[in-house]
Amino acid sequence: MLLGEPREPRRRKSPGCLMSDQPGYRHRRIGDKDLRPETLMMGYGYNPHLSEGAVKCPIFQTSTFVFRSAEEGKAFFELAYGIRERSPQEVPGLIYSRINNPDLEILEERLCLWEGAERALVCSSGMAAISTTLLTFLRPGDTIVHSEPLYGGTEYLLLNILPMFGVKCFGFTAGTSEAMEAAMREARSHGRVAVMLIETPANPTNALVDIRAAADLAEAAEKEDGKRPIVAIDNTYLGPLWQRPLEHGADLVLYSLTKNVGGHSDLIAGAVLGDSANINLIAGIRTILGTMADPWTGWMLMRSLETLKLRMTSQMKNARYIAEFLNDHPRVRTVHYLGFLDESNPQRELYKRQCLSPGSTFSFEINRGEAEAFRLLNALKLAKLAVSLGGTETLMEHPATMTHADVKPEHQQRIGITPAMIRISVGVEHPEDIIADLQQALEAI
Ligand SMILES: Cc1ncc(COP(=O)(O)O)c(C=O)c1O
Repeated sequence: MLLGEPREPRRRKSPGCLMSDQPGYRHRRIGDKDLRPETLMMGYGYNPHLSEGAVKCPIFQTSTFVFRSAEEGKAFFELAYGIRERSPQEVPGLIYSRINNPDLEILEERLCLWEGAERALVCSSGMAAISTTLLTFLRPGDTIVHSEPLYGGTEYLLLNILPMFGVKCFGFTAGTSEAMEAAMREARSHGRVAVMLIETPANPTNALVDIRAAADLAEAAEKEDGKRPIVAIDNTYLGPLWQRPLEHGADLVLYSLTKNVGGHSDLIAGAVLGDSANINLIAGIRTILGTMADPWTGWMLMRSLETLKLRMTSQMKNARYIAEFLNDHPRVRTVHYLGFLDESNPQRELYKRQCLSPGSTFSFEINRGEAEAFRLLNALKLAKLAVSLGGTETLMEHPATMTHADVKPEHQQRIGITPAMIRISVGVEHPEDIIADLQQALEAI
């Protein structure tokens, strides 16, 4: 199956193609200076002169692509289906938008720039990226080791759907490497560990998992079993700006692009990034499952990437103000904000080694319980009562009864989700306005 073969669009030179190896469109340096990702988001991989001079990449809202000749069509298919090897100068061409599309190709190249990945694939949702990735690497009888808490949809997939295909899942509570090691031992006694799936920071507790320690465990398993489990990190929470899992030994990075990367709460998409060998395998499965994103969503995400650093920096700064306000408030018991980890907390060293900022989403617990948490949420005048995170507007929700409603109460308690917990995703509004809203809502409880 070679449908996922990377097409190296940069070397296509036909007049109808968008990408080019002409100077200026894929340059990452000026003189001896490396250009930063935020600079490259404005034009990397796109040649305006191949699209009527349009400064922005057009939306290629097309299902299929015209071949110049039957011979060209035959050659494109031969490469796509792996019927023959590619000759040195040959460039695979565009065939059909389920296989790929210029909006997705350019977006995928830009996504790679933030964290130095070799290749990225964009999918129709975060769940599509996660399920397509897992289906690529899992076989009946395999096991998965995973952190807890996980996003509810991922947890459902692992606990309710994958077992139907003979896959067993072994969870550990995020926070200590000993718990991860114990889960790994248990999983290996039941079958080959094919994947370690980790969400760090955990949603909504912000507990951290040591990515390097996970990679070490995968390496040890490889020495004994001859096959390395894939270490896949869901990096949705901190996004490519504030955590780079590949630099800490991860094999794959997963995203719900719906969150920080999309950033405007107006699209659903996901991505998986990693080295070409792994991503090529996932690309083949994406083509057959049809879990790719559509061209319009690809275009929206390119627009979003232009302001990713601006938005995430502003949200991160706002979040610190809000966290400090909440921390000082007498009606708030605890604030689970990564910027507050003190010297005595063993997670502090890990935070400093692994994360580049506390980000903009965290949870806090008020004194008392669910009824008071609901009164606070119902009293909000500016922040929206909604799930999701990473958008320009501040969102708040109640994990125990909303995002994590599927998790049984005793399990919630074990992984640190309480009835008094509220999650906040801080937006780009003026922080004092958000504080004014929280102040009056806290008075209502
Ligand atoms: C950490 C995390 N991973 C994955 C997902 C799933 O993403 P999507 O809703 O884009 O399918 C979510 C959604 O909330 C999430 O929070």
